[in-house]
Amino acid sequence: IFVAIFGYELTQYYCSNSRGEPLSNYTFPDDFKFGVATASYQVEGAWNLNGKGENVWDRYTHTHPEKIVDGSTGDIACDSYHKYKEDVALCKELGVDFYRFSISWSRLLPTGFISKVNRDGSDYYSKLIDELLSKGIEPMVTMFHWDLPQPLQDLGGWANPKLQDYFYDYARLLLQLYGDRVKYWITFNEPKNVCRFAYGGPLLAPAVDSKAVGIYECAHTILKSHGQVYKMYDEEFRRSPEGKMGISLDMMFWMVPATDSELDKEAAERSLQFNFGWFANPIFGSGDYPEVMKKFVGRRSSFEGFKQSRLPTFSKEELDEIKGSADFLGLNMYSAIEASHVEFENSTDEISMDVDIQASYKFQPEWETAASWWLKVVPWAFKDTLTWVKRTYENPTIIITENGISDKGGNEDYNRVKFYELYLNAMLEAMNEEDVNVIGYTAWSLIDNFEWSDGYTNRFGLYSVDFESPERTRSPKLSAKSYKEIIARRRL
Ligand code: NOJ
Repeated sequence: IFVAIFGYELTQYYCSNSRGEPLSNYTFPDDFKFGVATASYQVEGAWNLNGKGENVWDRYTHTHPEKIVDGSTGDIACDSYHKYKEDVALCKELGVDFYRFSISWSRLLPTGFISKVNRDGSDYYSKLIDELLSKGIEPMVTMFHWDLPQPLQDLGGWANPKLQDYFYDYARLLLQLYGDRVKYWITFNEPKNVCRFAYGGPLLAPAVDSKAVGIYECAHTILKSHGQVYKMYDEEFRRSPEGKMGISLDMMFWMVPATDSELDKEAAERSLQFNFGWFANPIFGSGDYPEVMKKFVGRRSSFEGFKQSRLPTFSKEELDEIKGSADFLGLNMYSAIEASHVEFENSTDEISMDVDIQASYKFQPEWETAASWWLKVVPWAFKDTLTWVKRTYENPTIIITENGISDKGGNEDYNRVKFYELYLNAMLEAMNEEDVNVIGYTAWSLIDNFEWSDGYTNRFGLYSVDFESPERTRSPKLSAKSYKEIIARRRL
């Protein structure tokens, strides 16, 4: 009897969604694509080998070990620079359709500028791409996943509008080198987090505290860069109709109104507009920053004594170039948070984006937490996010370019198995019940890796990496087996 009851409870637990309802019977469409992802600084290592230049994460981890929870660096990381064939073999073992990885700008262009191309760097990515293709796996390439060459940071980084030219040169080189073999391109990964947390505080390198001025300049340069590079791709490099270029925007937090009051509902919507619409509205929406951002940042700028709004403005040509500049919306989906309206009225309040938004945030205590403090397991937020994105941006083509959960390590990762089932279930519900156009899904991450300021303390991999061994031995977790089965069965 005990076994029967326990078995039943366990089945209920693992076979129901976050609202306790059974998992749906939906299947994945035949042409739906599955993938896994990593990023250069998080996995490659070889930080100064064979001509690679220094980037902001090299500088930051070397000069500020106290900012990284375990004082670690990405100097060796998973050593994917030497072990890329093994990584590709793991992708093959999983049966994924594509592998999303990023290119280290300073491995290719050690100074950041086009004047000197590092042959070793260009060969490395060429070999990786060929290895993938030879195994029948499509490369999905992210051009910028946070590791800006240090010399470009020394010029002010993304807050300097000149970066648009340097990014253009770099992107052009990538398209020239690999455009014949790569069909999926992503210009930027999570630009919101780069701008908010690298130019507005201490979370991400280079941790410039620009007091909510540089954050808006950063976004402005990135949006213009994206628009210009998409135009170049569209006009010169789109070699086949399947060729696609997009951008990965994050829903780090789906915003839930703290109460039913109109003010809290507006605060939640405003938070979505500031965090997501900031990049999505110019590209996928009406074609400019959201009206609510113009209003709220502008209003605060005036009583902070700025001559003009801290939110920059686009020219007509720039707006035209940016609007519609994507073949798909890359969505990185993770967590949820509750938003409440707050009035920060007087001019002595410290300037920050939360103050601009006029909102404060907290988690619902009953939400389960992953190892990362910010990552709450709230699968229904995935469905709500997808439905909101569909309605707000007129049903764009969506590729989930990241989704995953952190733990403290170990291969018996039942929580990750459950996480993927629940989140994939929520996604299938959105596709089938709300007609959201999702064409692909990417698990973050293929392997445990350097998790930014959390170092190696929080792990996201389907495969574990033994960071103590010089070989950086990879081994499958339960979640690798279960993801593989889902891909093969094409259902949960
Ligand atoms: C988003 C980032 O793109 C990735 O680099 C990071 O490791 C994951 N989220 C998990 O935090």
